[in-house]
Amino acid sequence: MEYHIHPCASRRISLLPLALCLVLSITITTTVSAFNRTTIRFDEGYTPLFSDFNIDRSPDDKTVRLLLNRLSGSGIISSDYYNYGFFSARIKMPANYTAGIVVAFYTSNIDTWEKNHDELDFEFLGNVNDRPWRFQTNMYGGGSVSRGREERYRLWFDPSKESHQYSIFWSPKNIIFYVDDIPIREVIHHPDLGGDYPSKPMSLYATIWDASSWATNGGKVKVNYEYEPFAAEFKDLVLEGCRVDPIEQISSTNCTDRIARLIAQEYATIKPEGRKAMKWFRERYMYYSYCYDNLRYKVPPPECVIVPTEKERFRDTGRLREKMRFGGSQKRIRRGRSSRRRSRKPAASGSGKEVAAAAAV
Ligand SMILES: *[C@@H]1O[C@H](CO)[C@@H](O)[C@H](O)[C@H]1NC(C)=O
Ligand SMILES: *[C@@H]1O[C@H](CO)[C@@H](O)[C@H](O)[C@H]1NC(C)=O
Ligand SMILES: *[C@@H]1O[C@H](CO)[C@@H](O)[C@H](O)[C@H]1NC(C)=O
Repeated sequence: MEYHIHPCASRRISLLPLALCLVLSITITTTVSAFNRTTIRFDEGYTPLFSDFNIDRSPDDKTVRLLLNRLSGSGIISSDYYNYGFFSARIKMPANYTAGIVVAFYTSNIDTWEKNHDELDFEFLGNVNDRPWRFQTNMYGGGSVSRGREERYRLWFDPSKESHQYSIFWSPKNIIFYVDDIPIREVIHHPDLGGDYPSKPMSLYATIWDASSWATNGGKVKVNYEYEPFAAEFKDLVLEGCRVDPIEQISSTNCTDRIARLIAQEYATIKPEGRKAMKWFRERYMYYSYCYDNLRYKVPPPECVIVPTEKERFRDTGRLREKMRFGGSQKRIRRGRSSRRRSRKPAASGSGKEVAAAAAV
């Protein structure tokens, strides 16, 4: 697969005069081969999570649109847990005015392990007209909600124009987030991470919801329901890994062979050209990383790999200003999630506790 990245499509588009943009018009080409993946129908691996009336499935059941309107957002969840896996979908974000909206694609097991849950996130944040979407990735393990590990980025394309592939790879050795099969973040399972490394079976979730209180400009710009409904489209659904029935078999399924097969896949290891593409992405599009946030972590957490060119950039581009603009969002993310309970297990008082724990951050 070839990616042509035009410099004018970068984050500073609104500041770059068109003429200068044309002069700079050197197309950067990165070649990354696409992975071999098996896609499934919705009913082969998913169930509705909340607000079925806002879940719009195509006749062939291969595409699902999650709607947000003034009544509600919506969400879906994998029918099973996965004891490590590869989770992927082609997603098209809602177009036009999307301030205050969050589209999330993530793994979690909060329903079974309320107090020590694991989680791996992609969260896409909408914006006002002509301002780009942004997104963040995060990791929690064993209920490490007080130790956020967020990174925030812009994209090299408009994610509402067409579908792009987003993937989470999770194994006992490493975690990799991919956009269009370009690795954008890797977390190696460093021994000092201890319980902070996700290691219990998780479900895959996809949701759209109103996060007016924080998503855009620190909550200054809200969802505007004159533009409803907002639709996030998901297709080419991939769920690979050791499937575990959530009720009966969490502790009894032997995943040894399935995990070995997962680790042998192409997407489990970043090759040299993937490293190059990751460096390219992170140098240009990452605008926050907890690893460089000295105010928050005097000593970077053990899994952090300090890359001099990344570190340099954060010093140069005013990390502090970004932090003030986006800081505190974690607390609000968790609050926004508290309504997303699934019916498979009765919703206990957990959501309240979750908010309390997050508020203490
Ligand atoms: C892709 O996966 C299919 C099914 O597992 C397999 O038959 C095929 O050989 C694979 N192709 C490559 C290029 O690995
Ligand atoms: C976005 O706005 C354009 C121009 O106003 C309109 O043609 C288009 O249908 C809108 N797209 C969506 C998804 O609402
Ligand atoms: C799980 O399967 C592997 C390989 O098939 C086997 O070597 C191992 O003993 C099994 N573990 C348990 C606890 O059954």
